[in-house]
Amino acid sequence: MKTIFSGIQPSGSLTIGNYVGAIRQFVELQETHNCFFCIVDEHAITVPQDRLQLRKNIRSLAALYLAAGINPEKATLFIQSEVPAHTQLGWMMQSINYMGELERMTQFKDKSEGKDAVSAALFTYPSLMAADILLYQAEIVPVGDDQKQHLELTRDLAQRFNNRFLEVFTIPEISIPKVGARIMSLQEPTKKMSKSDENIKASIFMLDEPKQIEKKIKSAVTDSEGIVRYDKENKPGVTNLLDIHSAFSGETIAELEAKYEGKGYGDFKQGVADAVISVLKPIQDRYYEILDSNELDEILDEGAEKASRTANKTIQKAKKAMGLGRVRK
Ligand code: TYM
Repeated sequence: MKTIFSGIQPSGSLTIGNYVGAIRQFVELQETHNCFFCIVDEHAITVPQDRLQLRKNIRSLAALYLAAGINPEKATLFIQSEVPAHTQLGWMMQSINYMGELERMTQFKDKSEGKDAVSAALFTYPSLMAADILLYQAEIVPVGDDQKQHLELTRDLAQRFNNRFLEVFTIPEISIPKVGARIMSLQEPTKKMSKSDENIKASIFMLDEPKQIEKKIKSAVTDSEGIVRYDKENKPGVTNLLDIHSAFSGETIAELEAKYEGKGYGDFKQGVADAVISVLKPIQDRYYEILDSNELDEILDEGAEKASRTANKTIQKAKKAMGLGRVRK
């Protein structure tokens, strides 16, 4: 059974981009793989967070993972800061990660652009992300398209460590979904849909009420052609809605183009909204049941324990390989 690791930041409400690009894959993969799914709260603090809101977001994300179908009997669900090995290996990774590599990261450039107070942690974020993955000897990392560059760096770091010290780490493969790898903003469809977009009309959140979802999709930017046709370059708005529709209804793009032939954008948008709501509504119902349950705490306690067991084994090997600490006489 191959091992999988992936993580999501509790840095706001999850969008349908996070669902389609990440969580949905996780639910399938847990059936056939040894999975570790993480709430990466230490990554979230690389930008300023309100502490009470962060706490809330962590719990909310845990409940959403479960509501979306993560089964704690099959997969290990845990909070990053509850497994200290992450920051420990993160530091070790920083020591082999070059400044030049980190400077090239587009996520860092995007998040730091025009800001005066950029934390050092935002800069070294990819070293911690590499540690997350390598601690579990993950063979596959399912992520959306925007994480590809970080994953490539993780592979480089693993190889560098293995060559320079001892063969400790498995080199992970990147797995990006065929449909919905990059869901775009509803208002600026050339930009990715993001949890942190200030314009709330730009993103559909997993916990948006059905009426809100409908409203947001109806006000999504399209074009004046009036034809439902997949064309990323000339029709980014319609193309994004087709991707969303396809990801949520399972119909192919060709099937959808045929279905809406001769129909206007009004019908099409209603179809997109119906497809999204029919998937999200049952998840939302389960979410509210799980959120305040004791069961959630038990699952996270057990998850942290299980994750620590694997992570601590790798940390011992990595320390030994680097010459850290001592060997008992
Ligand atoms: P984060 O929290 O931004 O996003 C979580 C997952 O959702 C995917 N995603 C999208 N997929 C499609 N369309 C979108 N618009 C969209 N927006 C987000 C992301 O690609 C991701 O898979 N650095 C990571 C968190 C992380 C991690 C890890 C991931 C930390 N350590 C180790 C994998 C393995 C992040 O910020 O994801």
